Amino acid sequence: MSKFLLELSYLIGSITFILGLKMLGSPDSARKGNLVAAAGMVLAIAGTVLFHEKDGQSIGNIPWILAAMGIGTIIGWFMAMKVKLTAMPQMVSFFNGMGGACAAIISLVEYHSHPEGSAGYLLIVYLGLVIGSVSFSGSIVAFGKLDEKIKDFGGRYLTYLNLGLLALIFTVLGIAVATPDMLGGSALWILLGLSTLYGILFVLPIGGADMPVVISLLNSFTGMAAAFGGFLYHNQVMLTGGILVGSAGTILTVLMCKAMNRSLLNVIIGSFGGGGASGAAAGGDQTVREISLTDSAILCAYAGKVCIVPGYGLAVAQAQHICHELEKKLEDKGVEVYYAIHPVAGRMPGHMNVLLAEADVPYPKLVEMEEANPNMPNTDVVIVVGANDVVNPAAENDPGSPIYGMPVLKVWDAKNTIVLKRSMRAGYAGIENELFFLPKTKMLFGDAKDTLQKLVAELKDL
Ligand code: TAP
Repeated sequence: MSKFLLELSYLIGSITFILGLKMLGSPDSARKGNLVAAAGMVLAIAGTVLFHEKDGQSIGNIPWILAAMGIGTIIGWFMAMKVKLTAMPQMVSFFNGMGGACAAIISLVEYHSHPEGSAGYLLIVYLGLVIGSVSFSGSIVAFGKLDEKIKDFGGRYLTYLNLGLLALIFTVLGIAVATPDMLGGSALWILLGLSTLYGILFVLPIGGADMPVVISLLNSFTGMAAAFGGFLYHNQVMLTGGILVGSAGTILTVLMCKAMNRSLLNVIIGSFGGGGASGAAAGGDQTVREISLTDSAILCAYAGKVCIVPGYGLAVAQAQHICHELEKKLEDKGVEVYYAIHPVAGRMPGHMNVLLAEADVPYPKLVEMEEANPNMPNTDVVIVVGANDVVNPAAENDPGSPIYGMPVLKVWDAKNTIVLKRSMRAGYAGIENELFFLPKTKMLFGDAKDTLQKLVAELKDL
């Protein structure tokens, strides 16, 4: 009976993961999807604690398990409640690292329960250990870098060192599986050390705009490592969960590389995109043209079509609600309004979609980059709200720029552009933006929320 209940809890758990993931595909159902998958996870954990048996014995240690779960839940709950949306990527990275560590620990424990396992068994143990350790140490470095606690570091020599290290890991792994007696139990510790070091050195030189790709890649590593754990325990729910995380992470990695027009190899060994103030300075006319609030309001109110381009600054200023207000005010005046969404605007995949959904902006108003760009020439005013790199023409016309080749929103094709930001400071990639000096561009300096509030007030008076 307990076996049946256990299998049933795993089956339901697996189904909820798939349903949850499907629901995450749209902002309308995403929150519910998360809850559905979390409920499935609780069910699978409860099933394991209550019904799992080995040689007719229950798993025991219940007080320890409950205490660990209680402590983990409290810490996770507080972290998730306290985190600012702009710091979400760091937290995702940290949690992902914990998943990697769990997978590595499973391998360590499992080896000791069956050190005489078959070659296939040992391969899975070692792969889980290697991938889990890389994911753990890599994610912690990524967390430190995104939180600006760790600086970009390294250069070409580190790339060669990393390639050497990777070759060494595969060699040790091959020996440990093919001739288990040669290294014995020490293979485990050698692989743990090498993989942890590789995770650190692999993420250290990757900088700036490439971090989200790395986090997504590490996420898929954790999924894979968890799937290996599922193999070891013959645990279907762990296997399903691991495969889903692994494949979703891989798909996201590929999509993000596409959005930046880079190959994964280039991201991993390219070692550029750091935060330094590099990149070519904008040439030619360097005049900055400012615009007043009243003139901005008039320009927008009498436009036929207005496009809002949200960026990281919108998230920092928490300006999503007032942005929606502006959109409604303009529509009351007969203006057609749409939002142009760049796939890597902000600091995490889907960042802008999440923020705007939170402010109840209707989803059909969000237009993706590919569709928005051909629309720019017949847009009267583009309002750029705290975006910078994703509207930088250098991506198109400056082969020396670190973001050259990254698809961008061609806001300069519109009839007028108003840029809302606080200063002339650079964005995430740390490079100048020629857009700010173009004759059709007007700068409206100030905090995005504050400026938008004043703009909405001006519109009321018109
Ligand atoms: P950024 O290039 O980072 O530019 C944001 C701009 O917002 C800054 O120039 C800043 O200028 C302005 N800003 C900051 N706080 C503001 C406030 N309170 N009010 C008004 N403006 C404010 O952002 P983006 O255009 O969204 O580009 C995203 C960048 O992040 C890309 O390089 C992308 O590759 C990278 N990235 C993306 C992701 C994902 S997956 N979305 C993850 C990590 C990194 P001031 O300081 O002058 O105000």
